Amino acid sequence: MGRVQGKVAVVTGAARGMGAEHAKILAREGASVLVTDVLDELGRELVDGLKSQDYNVEYMHLDVSEASEWAEAISRVETTFGPVDILVNNAGVSSRAGLLGTEDSGWERVVAVNQTGVFYGMRAAVPSMLESGGGSIINITSVFGGVSGQADYFGYVATKAAVVAMTQSVALSHGKDGIRANAVAPGAIDTPMARSELEYLGIEMAEAAARLPIPRYAAPHEVSTTILFLASEESAYITGTVVPVDGGYTAGGLVAESHHG
Ligand SMILES: NC(=O)c1ccc[n+]([C@@H]2O[C@H](COP(=O)([O-])OP(=O)(O)OC[C@H]3O[C@@H](n4cnc5c(N)ncnc54)[C@H](O)[C@@H]3O)[C@@H](O)[C@H]2O)c1
Repeated sequence: MGRVQGKVAVVTGAARGMGAEHAKILAREGASVLVTDVLDELGRELVDGLKSQDYNVEYMHLDVSEASEWAEAISRVETTFGPVDILVNNAGVSSRAGLLGTEDSGWERVVAVNQTGVFYGMRAAVPSMLESGGGSIINITSVFGGVSGQADYFGYVATKAAVVAMTQSVALSHGKDGIRANAVAPGAIDTPMARSELEYLGIEMAEAAARLPIPRYAAPHEVSTTILFLASEESAYITGTVVPVDGGYTAGGLVAESHHG
């Protein structure tokens, strides 16, 4: 028996990066998974590969910032697999400006995807979880905004702090319904998003990793094991938390390279 055997899961932003690994581990551990993203070709490729290994997965286009697409996704998952037990709100975009450089359009985009997307997802999935008799919501925040501040990613940190607040609010309201909500705060994870940030900043990954307490970027699947734990009954009494998966970053920030010696 898998650790989420027979559960029904929806994962957003699951065509690549961490979301793809979250979808894979949930499928391998026995869940039926609706893989969603806006990168349809990549998402379909992932699902075809998983189907060829006999996993119970489907792909669907879902732009998390569109409420109508959420309604369609929840209706599709209910028809195909049954009511939702697990929701992983993973889709996210970065924003690279500080306060004074943040334009209205950049602000609106990052809020629409990272914050409103999580709101729409929970609002759409909770009635389905109530039907199912409970559920587990896992919202992806970040150490940036979700645990501490960060210069120059003003819009991004604002949305990731909001993800924590929304997670806590839902955990408090729906604990009595058997619905748990937790946030996961990744640190430095080797994904297309992280690589694109490093390229933009002109920093090599090894250089950026050198001052982390655990001096490397994590592979995406190293976050998925925490997602699996929070999705499963193993975490039945855990709700309203923020779990950092950050190689020690939030224990005190960056360390001098010499401390590794
Ligand atoms: N990589 C890191 O170091 C890191 C650190 C902390 C938090 N995070 C967060 O983890 C999550 C996953 O990031 P990642 O690093 O795997 O990035 P990624 O860019 O590789 O993956 C993000 C996925 O979200 C999808 N997406 C973007 N906009 C969308 C929309 N409107 N609707 C649906 N899907 C959309 C993208 O197509 C992509 O597949 C994000 O929420 C990100 O903010 C990442």
